[in-house]
Formats: sequence, C-alpha cells, structure tokens
Amino acid sequence: MRTQVGIVGAGPAGLLLAHLLALEGVESVVLESRSREAVEQTIRAGVLEQGTVDLLDSTGVGERMRREGALHRGIELRFGGRGHRIDFPSLTGGRAIMLYPQHEVLKDLIAARLAAGGDLRFEVADVAVEEATSDRPRLRFNEGGQARALDCEVVAGCDGFWGVCRDAIPEGRRTAYAREYPFAWFGILAEAPPSSDELIYCSSERGFALVSTRSPTVQRLYFQCDPDDHEDNWPDDRIWEELQARLQTRDGWTLTEGPIFQKGIVGMRSFVCEPMQHGRLFLAGDAAHIVPPTGAKGLNLAAADVVVLARGLVELFRSGAGGRLEAYSATCLRRVWRTEHFSWWMTSMLHRFPGDDPFQHRLQLAQLEYVASSEAAATTLAENYVGLPIGDG
Ligand code: FAD
Ligand code: DHB
Repeated sequence: MRTQVGIVGAGPAGLLLAHLLALEGVESVVLESRSREAVEQTIRAGVLEQGTVDLLDSTGVGERMRREGALHRGIELRFGGRGHRIDFPSLTGGRAIMLYPQHEVLKDLIAARLAAGGDLRFEVADVAVEEATSDRPRLRFNEGGQARALDCEVVAGCDGFWGVCRDAIPEGRRTAYAREYPFAWFGILAEAPPSSDELIYCSSERGFALVSTRSPTVQRLYFQCDPDDHEDNWPDDRIWEELQARLQTRDGWTLTEGPIFQKGIVGMRSFVCEPMQHGRLFLAGDAAHIVPPTGAKGLNLAAADVVVLARGLVELFRSGAGGRLEAYSATCLRRVWRTEHFSWWMTSMLHRFPGDDPFQHRLQLAQLEYVASSEAAATTLAENYVGLPIGDG
C-alpha cells in the first residue's frame, strides 16, 4: 500500500490534517488504534478559539458547531468571593470563543472524511515508523491480525502524548522540556442547568475551581485535587460541598446541582519536544507538546500545528518546494512556546501550590487584581484566550 501522507492517530490533529489535505487534493491514510466509537465518545476539551471556529467553518465542517455550540464573549475570573468579567470582543477587536465538545468536532470530521471517501482505519495495532529519514518512510501496523506496510512520502505523528511517533525520533536528536504540577483536575459532568452564562475560573483558599458547560442541560465542572487522589474518594455529596465552598461569593450566587454521570482525574503537565520534525516524520498536537488545561489550549494548538503542516505539505506536493515544510518546526514552536507560557501563567495564577506561603498568596492575589482592573492586563489574557494568529499569518 502507498499514500502521500501516512497519519498516525485520529484525534483532532490527525483528522483535521487529513481533512485539510483532502481539500487540497493531497491523499492520506489515517491509522488509529482505538475504535471509532471510543474516539467519538471520549470526553475531553470544550473550548474552541476563534481561529479554530473560523477554520472549521471555512473548510465546511462547522455547520453543526454553529447550530449546537454556544458562542461565549467573555469569562469570569473569581477570587476573594467576587467575580470580574473579562470581555473578549471589546479587548480583541470582536473575537470570541465557542463551547463545542472535542468529541463532537471529531464526529463531524470523521463524517466528513468518510463522506469524501477518505481512508480512515480504526482498531489497528502495533504501528511502527520506519526509515523516517529516507524519502520513503514506512508505517508498519497490524490490521485484523494481518501485518501490513504503508509506504508514504511523509508521516504525520498525530498520536497524542502516549503515542509511538515521538519515540521514532532518536533520543540524541530531540530535547524534551517538561514540568509536572503538584496537583490535578477532578472533572465531572452533571445533569444540571447552567449556573452561569460564561465560564468561571475561580481561585479560592481551598484551591482552583472551573465552571464550564456542555449544553443547556449538562454542566462540566472541574476542581483542583491531589494528583494521587482517586474518584472513589469523592462521593457526589462531597464533590458538591467542595465546589460550593470554593465558588461561593459574597453576593449570594448559587451553583446549580444535579446528578453526576461522569467523573475523572486529569494530570497536569507542560511538555515540549524540540524539534517537531525528524527527516520526513512530522509531529503535531499532543505528540509534540502538552499544556496544563487552564486556558483550554491543547486542542487549539493541535489545530494550529496541522494548519502549518498542511500548508507545507501542499506546497511540497504541488511544486516540489520544501521551504515551508522545513520551517514547520520553527514556525510551530514560536506559537507553542507562547501558548505554553499562557497555560503555565493561568495555572500558576489560579491554583494553590502545596507549600506556598502567605507571601506567594499575596502575589497571586495582586496578579489577579491587576488582570481584573487593568485594561492592558485583561487584554493580555483575552488575546491569548481567544487565540493568537496561526503560523506565519
Ligand atoms: P489526541 O487527542 O490524544 O489524539 C491522538 C490519537 O492517536 C488518539 O485517538 C489515540 O487513540 C491515537 N493513538 C495513540 N497512539 C497510537 C498508536 N500507537 N497507533 C495509532 N493510534 C494511536 N484542549 C483545548 O483546546 N480546550 C479544552 O477545553 C481542553 N480541555 C481538556 C480537558 C481534558 C479533561 C483533557 C484530558 C484535555 C483537554 N484539552 C483541551 C486538551 C485536548 O483534549 C488535547 O490537547 C487534544 O486532544 C490533542 O489532540 P491530538 O490529536 O494531538 O491528540
Ligand atoms: C474546559 C476545559 C478547560 O481546560 C478549560 O480551561 C475550560 C473549559 C471544558 O472542558 O469545558
């Protein structure tokens, strides 16, 4: 078998790349280890930057997002028992964000690829990248018990943080920059109407909490917990008690409760692999970098990577010119590091770090008050949150 671009992973990076390439007449095969059902049901991100929204719209996969997603024009920063709104359009020249779950984006992309006759292979095993530095890299894999080989012109490693593609770059040819955080997020989905029209990022003495939403009847909530904690330690009553305590305000705001139907703990880390390329193997999305979830950047960063990669690949296959593709890693890493900084900054400003002293708490509070009261500081948050320009513009 052969194809132009062999893509490992049917997450946001892999599926969007296949979609963008197909629109430009470049063929690809996507190899995914999980089943289509598992991919379409995994609950992850919820926030789409303006640029991601525009991209889905302009490439013909935004119709359901426009119908079912919710446009948000701001967020609330809550601390000291008071809320402070950050208004996105007035601070960013009219930009905003969309709440539309990642797995719904994936359903739309899978449907579009299949409708266009795309080659998506789910439940493949033992994917291995071979000869990445030759001009014919190969993907070996197992499909339904059969060993197969796919000859490619380029391989895109879109297989997430735990995938195999990053390790196909020899250790001596890559550098990992990493940071672990001494806390995690406990996330729940609850059948309850919204408590707020917009997301609430809350810093409290008991730790961080986040109020987000999925639909008019389903709410997504998170709170900072110990990374070694376990779902079983948190019966529903205890979860609501903790969320109520962290989110309480002095003006009588109430958090609406309801039956909890999903619980999970998400670890938090920052990670960047440099470079994001080895020969004809290109890493995109979580395979190359991870951000802590405060700021909602992971999916959006994956989308930005593949826009740059698709442009480079289209140029290569159209004209044989490799200039854009050679600049891929450097182009992406500029935005990646900017976003790493933003996610680290939001995380540092809003969470309680074990061992922090009162001096540190006063610094956090001073920073939060600055963001809430200075238009310059609020603009910094807003322009990063709605998303910076992609690639070279
Ligand atoms: P992935 O989504 O991890 O996709 C990789 C795919 O590759 C998977 O389907 C996997 O099964 C497959 N794969 C792995 N190994 C192999 C292999 N060996 N062979 C074949 N296939 C393989 N980001 C945001 O932007 N906004 C948010 O609001 C947000 N909230 C989040 C909340 C949570 C709880 C979590 C966990 C993450 C959140 N993120 C958010 C991050 C976001 O979900 C990820 O950054 C995003 O999924 C990255 O996409 P990706 O395609 O690079 O990787
Ligand atoms: C959601 C996730 C995030 O990481 C975030 O910063 C905001 C919202 C969400 O899942 O809705």
